[in-house]
Amino acid sequence: MLHNAGLTLSDGTTLDDLINRDMNEVSLRVMNDKELYELEMERVFARTWLLLGHESEIPKAGDYVMRDMAEDNVIVSRDRSGEIHVMLNVCPHRGMKVCTAEAGNAHAHRCIYHGWAFRADGSFIGAPIEKEQMHGSKRSKDELGLKKARVHLYGGLIFATWNKDLSFEDYLGDAKFYLDQLFCRTDNGLEMLGPPQRFVLPCNWKIPGEQSGSDGFHTLTLHRSLMEGGIMGGTAESIYDTAPGMYGVDLSVPQGHTLRCLEAAQTFKMFADVSFEGKSTEERLNLLPPPGITKDLIPQLFKNLSEDQVKQLANIPPQVGGMFPNILIAFIFAPRMDGGASGALSLHTYVPKGPDKVEFVNFIFAEKDAPEDVKRDMLQNAIWSTGTSGTIEQDDADTWPQIMRNSRGHMSKTITLKYQALHGHERPEGWVGGGDLYPGFTKDDTQWAWWMAYYNMMADA
Ligand code: FES
Ligand SMILES: [Fe+2]
Repeated sequence: MLHNAGLTLSDGTTLDDLINRDMNEVSLRVMNDKELYELEMERVFARTWLLLGHESEIPKAGDYVMRDMAEDNVIVSRDRSGEIHVMLNVCPHRGMKVCTAEAGNAHAHRCIYHGWAFRADGSFIGAPIEKEQMHGSKRSKDELGLKKARVHLYGGLIFATWNKDLSFEDYLGDAKFYLDQLFCRTDNGLEMLGPPQRFVLPCNWKIPGEQSGSDGFHTLTLHRSLMEGGIMGGTAESIYDTAPGMYGVDLSVPQGHTLRCLEAAQTFKMFADVSFEGKSTEERLNLLPPPGITKDLIPQLFKNLSEDQVKQLANIPPQVGGMFPNILIAFIFAPRMDGGASGALSLHTYVPKGPDKVEFVNFIFAEKDAPEDVKRDMLQNAIWSTGTSGTIEQDDADTWPQIMRNSRGHMSKTITLKYQALHGHERPEGWVGGGDLYPGFTKDDTQWAWWMAYYNMMADA
């Protein structure tokens, strides 16, 4: 029996009652519990790094976008020196939103209620009628700035946290070797293609969250129509007889980040009958560049990544997965009806908006150095496939509210979610990257790793 964790709800239910580590089961009740939700805000969302956007969204001094760190509304802005700041969008005077626009450019934000003003770095400028000192005399101006989060830029992605201690390196852990292959592979990095798409779904954030822990199995059934209709490449026969997309190397790290690495040679069979046998890394990359990479960009991979990283990108690239707690990564091939197979690069965040509501935010990318026509193609691909109106996510967004609905039933919430199809760790021969590895048919190991990261954060008072 594993030892009891330090979390007990007011009715006496413990975290171990909800998450059974001996049986690899999770009570459906966790998807619909107000008390647990409040603890998640404190123990998960206030303690970890959260993805807010990309620096290409705010290229000029004064540019800003409004985002959410769970239920905390924040301003993400670039100051005169070019530095990016993330600060709570709560006026320290009487709690009004200081900024009410979704995006714009301003060197100062002035609260519409009584006019207190703040610079793009969050520092307090003053209140109207300066001579009357309408901010009082009990606190200095230095104390009256907007509350700031720590910021880290990774491949241009803007992450922020309220945690004073957690380094970004510790947050990434061994996932960095793989994530660099997606986010840090070209000279000028990624560019966000337009503002994020957003919509709100009636479900708890953990329902899409645990799926983002690299649930590969559901694609065979939930997304079956995409294969049957020939929309995602291949045919129904090839998908179900040999299930090529189901085999690869899944991986997780203790921080809860997970990835599915899929054999490029197998993927290639979906598009053309060309063998990878005897081909060099460079030849393989040219035969099938990783999603989002054009042939012209291939030399940049060698420049920006280690030899081992490029080799992995050529042979078995990470394509889908997630970063704990609420990021889904989909850097996938998006076959087109016209026979093309360019990439779709999307990140989603599942932002909690209450125990039974989540905002689905879809960030779409291309490599900044990709030609304009490729960027346009990739934007279309991502909207058609991974966007909120896309062919893939519509399937998922149909199931999540139904699971949520079930979590409310007196009897239904006693049902447990099962994560018992497990490989256990196994390191494929010659594999260079770290983490726990699960080669073969995709199973439940990575989603269980997601739950273990959740368990550990929630248990840590
Ligand atoms: S609430 Fe912002 S100035 Fe009063
Ligand atoms: Fe899905």
